[in-house]
Amino acid sequence: MKLKSRLVVSFFIIIFVPVVLFAGLMYGIKSLAQDFAARQGVDNQVLEYMQDFMIENDRFDSIIQNFCVAVFIILFVTAMVMIWWINKGISPQLKALRMAANNIKEGNLDFSIASTGTDEMSDLCNAFEDMRVRLQNNAKDRLVDEAEQRALISNIAHDLKTPITAIKGYAEGILDGVAVTPEKQEKYIRTIYNKANEMNTLINELTLYSKIDTNKIPYNFQKLNVNEYFNDCVNELGMDLENQHIRLDYTNFVDPDVQIIADPEQLGRIINNIISNSVKYMRADVASHIIITIKDVGDFVEIDIGDNGKGIAQHDLPYVFDRFFRADTSRNSAAGGSGIGLSIVKKIVEDHGGKIWVTSKENQGTTMCFVIRKYEEAIHEQDIDN
Ligand SMILES: Nc1ncnc2c1ncn2[C@@H]1O[C@H](COP(=O)(O)OP(=O)(O)OP(=O)(O)O)[C@@H](O)[C@H]1O
Ligand SMILES: [Mg+2]
Repeated sequence: MKLKSRLVVSFFIIIFVPVVLFAGLMYGIKSLAQDFAARQGVDNQVLEYMQDFMIENDRFDSIIQNFCVAVFIILFVTAMVMIWWINKGISPQLKALRMAANNIKEGNLDFSIASTGTDEMSDLCNAFEDMRVRLQNNAKDRLVDEAEQRALISNIAHDLKTPITAIKGYAEGILDGVAVTPEKQEKYIRTIYNKANEMNTLINELTLYSKIDTNKIPYNFQKLNVNEYFNDCVNELGMDLENQHIRLDYTNFVDPDVQIIADPEQLGRIINNIISNSVKYMRADVASHIIITIKDVGDFVEIDIGDNGKGIAQHDLPYVFDRFFRADTSRNSAAGGSGIGLSIVKKIVEDHGGKIWVTSKENQGTTMCFVIRKYEEAIHEQDIDN
């Protein structure tokens, strides 16, 4: 039954019940009075009046009937006005909600049912509007995700194809007897080995990326002494970079007892990803140089990793932490990569409660800066000691 019909039926019941009850009551009293008069006789003024007015005079019946009709008409008009008023307050919003539900069912989310009213129906419309906006945002996010997944698949295909083509070429070289000397054979096999390693790194990176994206990365947070951690880290890096003829300068301004809370493995991943970019995007015309600076900045420790490489164009800077973003793809295509290194870095830094940013100038170099929060108890202990 429609809301309007329900209202009409309800109001008719509300009108009839009091009128019928009133009439019933009056005729009940009349019949009691008749009964009483028949048994007791008329011996006082009240009963005399009752007999005169209620029992023997027909005016009583017509007064009751007129009264009932008048009450019925008044209640009927009032009910009609109330039905119209209630219906006016609910019907338009119900229509809007029905239209909204139909639109959503058909996949159309480009409408609005926001209401400025303050009643419950307006609240319901606004709640529906919130739901629609969320659905619309989810749909947009899904489109972006789908585009990114497509980009990822084409990147993976591209990045895997390069080493696979090389492996195939060198393996054919060996099979066809092109590599005749043992030295040449070793060179071919070594290249196959290196290319297989490249593929392995890429696959590991993609696995890590999918874990990071779904928050499945297991962090092992620990208290780390900043000086000990970064001194060890730089020692390891120094050897690697020296082999590649890259100069590494390291300055640490942090007090010896300062600690941070971090996952040592993931912190290492951050540094390696940033350094591997510095190495990958070096300029061929200058001696390569990487500078690592660790500073104490109040509640945080700041780590700056700078290079004198190719740099990043100003218009690309806001996007370098985006998934799959690679500045000037054609220039970088020879360097290889999927454009996920820095998005992983950003996610890990943020999961540590830190922040990351970049400054860069084309053909001059890039500096990646990030902050990690200090271990708080160490600060409290210092306060107590002082
Ligand atoms: N030190 C740097 N010097 C110059 N350009 C950089 C530097 N670091 C990052 N970039 C630019 O930012 C882009 C994104 O870097 P990111 O590490 O996310 O991806 P990638 O290095 O291209 O690929 P991946 O790290 O997944 O192998 C790079 O493609 C590059 O254009
Ligand atoms: Mg990278």
